[in-house]
Amino acid sequence: MINILENEKTFLLSTKETSMIFHVLESGHLVELYYGDRIEDNAFSYIIKDLKHASYLSDTDGIEGFKLEQMPLAYPAYGNPDLRTPAFMFEYDDGSRITDLRFDHYTCSKEKKKIKGLPTTLGPCEVITFVLTDQIRDLQVSLNISIFEQWDVFTQSVEVSNKSASTIKINSITSACLSLLEDNFQIVSLTGAWGRERMIRNSSLTQGRFLIDSKRGATGHGQSPFIALTDQNVTEDHGRIYAMNLVYSGNFKCEVEVDMHQNVRMMCGLNDFDFEWSLATQETFMTPEAVLVYARGYTQMTHRFHDFYRDCLIPRSFVHQERPVLINNWEATYFDFDGEKLRHIASEAANLGIELFVLDDGWYGQRNDIYTSLGDWQPNEKKLGQPLKQFVQEIHQQGMKFGLWFEPEMVSPQSQLFKQHPDWIIRVPFHKPQLARHQYVLDLSREEVQAFIIESISTIIRDHQVDYVKWDMNRNITDSGSFFLDHKHQKELPHRYMLGLYHVLDVLTATFPNVLFEGCAGGGGRFDPGMLKYFPQIWTSDDTDAIERLSIQKGTSLLYPCATMGAHVSAVPNHQMGRITPLKTRGVVAMMGDLGYELDITQLSKKQKDEIKQQIRFYKSIRHLITDGDYYRLENGWMFVSRDQKEALVSHVQILSQPNTVPKRLHLKGLDAASFYQIDNTIISGSALMHIGLALDQAKEDFHAQQWVIRKVENYGD
Ligand code: GLA
Repeated sequence: MINILENEKTFLLSTKETSMIFHVLESGHLVELYYGDRIEDNAFSYIIKDLKHASYLSDTDGIEGFKLEQMPLAYPAYGNPDLRTPAFMFEYDDGSRITDLRFDHYTCSKEKKKIKGLPTTLGPCEVITFVLTDQIRDLQVSLNISIFEQWDVFTQSVEVSNKSASTIKINSITSACLSLLEDNFQIVSLTGAWGRERMIRNSSLTQGRFLIDSKRGATGHGQSPFIALTDQNVTEDHGRIYAMNLVYSGNFKCEVEVDMHQNVRMMCGLNDFDFEWSLATQETFMTPEAVLVYARGYTQMTHRFHDFYRDCLIPRSFVHQERPVLINNWEATYFDFDGEKLRHIASEAANLGIELFVLDDGWYGQRNDIYTSLGDWQPNEKKLGQPLKQFVQEIHQQGMKFGLWFEPEMVSPQSQLFKQHPDWIIRVPFHKPQLARHQYVLDLSREEVQAFIIESISTIIRDHQVDYVKWDMNRNITDSGSFFLDHKHQKELPHRYMLGLYHVLDVLTATFPNVLFEGCAGGGGRFDPGMLKYFPQIWTSDDTDAIERLSIQKGTSLLYPCATMGAHVSAVPNHQMGRITPLKTRGVVAMMGDLGYELDITQLSKKQKDEIKQQIRFYKSIRHLITDGDYYRLENGWMFVSRDQKEALVSHVQILSQPNTVPKRLHLKGLDAASFYQIDNTIISGSALMHIGLALDQAKEDFHAQQWVIRKVENYGD
């Protein structure tokens, strides 16, 4: 809802439970007066009058006491008396870096347009655009703010239009800036590395700057395009949270600055490191979109993100579709397979109730190790012992779907593609380009490279009736340079790469709307909202150890719906950790997301196969809860509750057993307190399940898992 107040100078934007207030100062500067719990009133400019004026700051526009540096500016510029970090910096052809943005006008609309070339959240919303101009430079900067009332979400993207006769250099540009007039917060971010992605990290907030960024050409394993400020005592259920998540998959930055007077500025957007964009006359530049969520407690924040991404981001045709239980041959065989071995795995898989057979790396060109063939996307029929088409037919005949692994953004030095197009890789002339995993990155800023990828992947999908694609990316960008761009545009490469990739994904997912694409980047090295626009599921991590997965999946679940997380049961000892965990625990943990199996099932005993069969049968009976239910984190556990609160799946893992303890209880969440639920053979009220809790086993083994299904008993006790 948009309320325009105080002579069109104050704008109260409200969702169901949150509000944001913007105000135009007499000077024409746009400020953000408030963001938080929903507020009803009709005048807010008094907030500005209450701001104390600090010493040793310049006045603005010659007005004594008007200190811009004290103002909660909505999109702060450089070159005025506000000497904090600006939200953007432009350079003009005379060498000046000063931009003076003042409010020009606003527009409102009930329709949100797709951001050209970039993944965009779309759904019923209202859009207000604040158009700010620099009269001297003939430049327009528009803040496009979408109000997703039903989801308690705001999004913001920025559009720069160069109306002048000369080129402007964009040196930095963020998507959103949040100003808060207090600093009693802590910072929450998701950090980690390969094999331990998206660990929840709390950092203290002090005067100075805190930055998380990626310079890797992808969001990366080590950092996520997310930052939040929370009250110090925040819990799942209490405490204010201000969160930002960027809909982008490349170089980004999220930062928080605390100034000399305990004011906070939080921003996120494209990384300005080694970035520059030439904006020619009459051209427009669009930033990626930032998603802003204010919530009380982590659970509410998670629900807001999950619901919003399910309804307004993830491909509609898949988001409410239950995901197939898959078998992936990677950890079962690595490169060492032939048609015989695969057929054996496939027929076991079909017997166990598996619905999708995924053939991972090694099926094309001469690929038997990591040294060759990326880019040569022709099936190695000699290795398969039969045409791929025939192999796929056999899989289909067994009632399973067929999936194939690709790494389309890469090329091996030993490949036909590299021989034909050595200039298609990202590199700088005269410098020997660096190899990572023995491969180079293709220059996706080039249209001919984009066309090659679209054509080669489409041909395989079409000719072989592929139902699922695992889209991998196993190295980051080094040697950032393009043979295609002139020297003035070299710093545009990382962003142009992303625009190229998004274009390729736009075309492929539109051409094959029924193919399920799963994203992957050496595990979870590119798990972000930008990718979720195309990939309804993403491989969460190469670390398949059930215990490691508890924290990886918990961190990921903070923002992203659980049905977007690829989660597999793998062999023990685990290939990454060497840890041995019970098959039950591996199943329970993998059932937090899209259940798959990634081990040589032909080597299992009958008892183990029976257990897997049972796991799959059970998963199929409850997976609608993972797809569409509300997710809650519990103490060492988690649960999914159906929207109508009639059904729930509860899971718990006791990591280490302890001697001489008494059994504890698990307090459930999200149930209807007044209803009764059947759990095993007992009937217990929702209020008792939430406040007294479920009895936990006194574990006599490490890594002990328990799982319950709870169903509401209608009319009980009436
Ligand atoms: C990456 C992926 C793995 C597997 C291999 C194949 O590491 O994360 O799941 O597909 O590549 O080379």
